[in-house]
Amino acid sequence: MTAVSSLVNEAFRPAFHYASKDTWLNDPNGLIFHDGTYHLYYQNNPFGNVWGNMSWGHATSTDLVTWTEQPVAIACDESEDIFSGSIVWDEYNTSGLGGPLAAPLVAIYTSAFKEDSPHYGHQAQSLAWSTDGGYTWTKYHANPVLERESANFRDPKVFRYSGPRGSYWVMVAVEAHDYTVVLYRSDDLKTWEYLSSFGPANGTGGVWECPDLFPLPLDGNEDNIKWVLTVNLNPGGPNGGSAGQYFVGDFDGVRFSSETTVTEGLQDPARLSEYLWLDWGRDYYAAVSFNNVPDGRRLMIGWMNNWQYSNDIPTSPWRGPMSLVREVSLVSFNAQIRLRQRPVWEANADPGRTVSYTGLDLDAGLHPVEGGTAVQVIEATFVPGSAEEFGLMIRGNGDDGTRIGIRPGEGRLTVDRTTSGNTDFHEDFSSIDSAPLQPTGGSYDLRIFVDHCSVEIFAQDGQVTMTELIFPDPENVGLALYASGGTVKASSLTLTTLD
Ligand code: FRU
Repeated sequence: MTAVSSLVNEAFRPAFHYASKDTWLNDPNGLIFHDGTYHLYYQNNPFGNVWGNMSWGHATSTDLVTWTEQPVAIACDESEDIFSGSIVWDEYNTSGLGGPLAAPLVAIYTSAFKEDSPHYGHQAQSLAWSTDGGYTWTKYHANPVLERESANFRDPKVFRYSGPRGSYWVMVAVEAHDYTVVLYRSDDLKTWEYLSSFGPANGTGGVWECPDLFPLPLDGNEDNIKWVLTVNLNPGGPNGGSAGQYFVGDFDGVRFSSETTVTEGLQDPARLSEYLWLDWGRDYYAAVSFNNVPDGRRLMIGWMNNWQYSNDIPTSPWRGPMSLVREVSLVSFNAQIRLRQRPVWEANADPGRTVSYTGLDLDAGLHPVEGGTAVQVIEATFVPGSAEEFGLMIRGNGDDGTRIGIRPGEGRLTVDRTTSGNTDFHEDFSSIDSAPLQPTGGSYDLRIFVDHCSVEIFAQDGQVTMTELIFPDPENVGLALYASGGTVKASSLTLTTLD
């Protein structure tokens, strides 16, 4: 019996998203490109597939699509759990933790102290270092290096700042229950000086976690650099539960100032739609960016899950996939600044087998299309007609499936997973979720990545993204276009099936 059910659940194992072999994972941690390899560390329970025993798991990749699981990198012990954090390459050995010949990688992580520790009840920031390229780690003997005697001070993201005020390490972390990002600076990663705080602002429907801060040129103009502050919150997302938001503004080496704050202080539920969300779906959380990516590219990855039901998703022996890696850039769109996200895919991935259709004029109803599979990329362009809603149904069987729809009158993109397959493992899972969406030049463009247990949607060239888990019967691979209450033209539809 066990063998059969674990076989069935293995059918949800993603083909081109990372998931661990047989354990639990949550947040991406310590993302860095070093010596030709991308390192993805993550919150990991080495002993089970629900949250607990928090340690840093580890995977490596050279193409950001295929990952190799490595041994646990930093393990919990009797005095601490290893919560989220980041890694820097201490090229000039400012920390003194490297040997004479080896600049160290230094991990800055949150120690969630347990009863055995004199810091019991606190969360504080600690160091570990590696001189073998990130495979084995030693904890610093004088941890923690930054202790505020707070129970909710966590998730340090450290980067090297160079600007008019000099060159130093900057840490962004959170006081999670105060909806506040706190900034510190250091010359040696061991002693930290407080700089400033940001928040509460915009989304504050839940604790703030896993912040990040990075510069990007607006519309590719290197003379117009803006700073982006991202912060995840749980719950309080636009469609419920966990989600990430971002602010665009300036960082002067001390303080971040936002140009995109809609509400100061506590969140206004009526204005949730005006806040800037990294992803409008239910399953993109704790997203942070890689350090040291060549050519100034900013690459992010998120945990494809939601704390509302993450411990119950019906996969085994593993639990918790990561999203695709996304390259983010800042673009002006209808006179507003937006973070555009494109999956890192083209240069690396298997070209697959492609089928294309053009000029499909559709009446009201469901129109099956040949070629649906459980692992594919779907690119669709729609020119609206009289239909009040149109779109695609994926992973279908008859009328059941996951509907990805556009409602032009309401200006919304929707994902309906109420009949997507197994939805009753948790009462919060079944949902119809939506995001604001406007056409470009009169048409709607969707790029959809379907991978066994997930659908990741990049709309209008990544201006809006929606990421959702689904658990259909593995046999259900029906694909259809649909229109409700009128007509629509699918001016092109391309299906790429991946082997
Ligand atoms: C976010 C989070 C972090 C914390 C980690 C613990 O999902 O709650 O704030 O460091 O997970 O696993």
